[in-house]
Amino acid sequence: MTILDGKKVSNDIKDEITEQVKKMKAKGEKVPHLAAIIVGNDGASLTYVGSKVRACERVGFESTLVKMSSTTSEVELLDKINELNENPEIDGYIVQLPLPEQIDTQKVLLAVNPDKDVDGFHPANFGKMALDMTTFIPATPFGILELLERYGVETSGKHTVVIGRSHIVGRPMSILMGRKGFPGNSTVTLTHSHTKNITQITSQADIIISALGVPNFLKAEMVKDDAVIIDVGITRVADDSTEKGYRITGDVDFVNVSKKASFITPVPGGVGPMTIAMLLKNTLLACERHRS
Ligand code: GUN
Repeated sequence: MTILDGKKVSNDIKDEITEQVKKMKAKGEKVPHLAAIIVGNDGASLTYVGSKVRACERVGFESTLVKMSSTTSEVELLDKINELNENPEIDGYIVQLPLPEQIDTQKVLLAVNPDKDVDGFHPANFGKMALDMTTFIPATPFGILELLERYGVETSGKHTVVIGRSHIVGRPMSILMGRKGFPGNSTVTLTHSHTKNITQITSQADIIISALGVPNFLKAEMVKDDAVIIDVGITRVADDSTEKGYRITGDVDFVNVSKKASFITPVPGGVGPMTIAMLLKNTLLACERHRS
């Protein structure tokens, strides 16, 4: 069994990006600049955005964090988005999700300039992804592809079962695994809350990508021998024995499933760090595209 070490691979990617930024600086070019908008005080979202900003510092990018109050109106947020769309200094930006309920998320995602949409959430970019056109691939699915590729995990002709149909992970992942090329060429089943007899489906899978957000959902008896297991779950579970009072738990019963798996991602240290590395990669791509 091999652990797919997202922490290590993400550090390798950040080192590669750092080198590219150094070269840009040496040529007197402007370095990539990522902005992030966060609306409200959700603890997990603040943590994620903080990690994204710190990652920018680590690789030598410029970054701007825009913090807006939880009572921000839709119009105020759309004005801020317009400002970032028009600002030539900003190569790419993200609007951290979820947004407070007074704001229509679809309207917000449509307002982002697709050329700066480094999350790949705009329908124009999502459509390009589905049609194999060059675009920004959403960071978490992009990170999973990169992990599979760097570990040489065979995906062609395999049966990939995706659990969860979120717009951020499950849906794009199901499209990407079925695309032509590597990693891809999989036969994909997308399962969700209405799926019947899920064990019957997962137990036939060569590759399982679980993005459900239910701790310890995937048990050993749901998995066949030598399956590849990708755990996208990052649920905070109360734990008084830790300093923060919680620990991060994945969708997979790691202790038992890892005994059967050929490859498996840990939580934390698997998919999570890859998401941030790929957001940086998308920002670098945005910067290069704006120049050419
Ligand atoms: N919320 C959870 N994951 C993500 C992500 O990848 N991007 C943004 N913008 N919000 C998120």
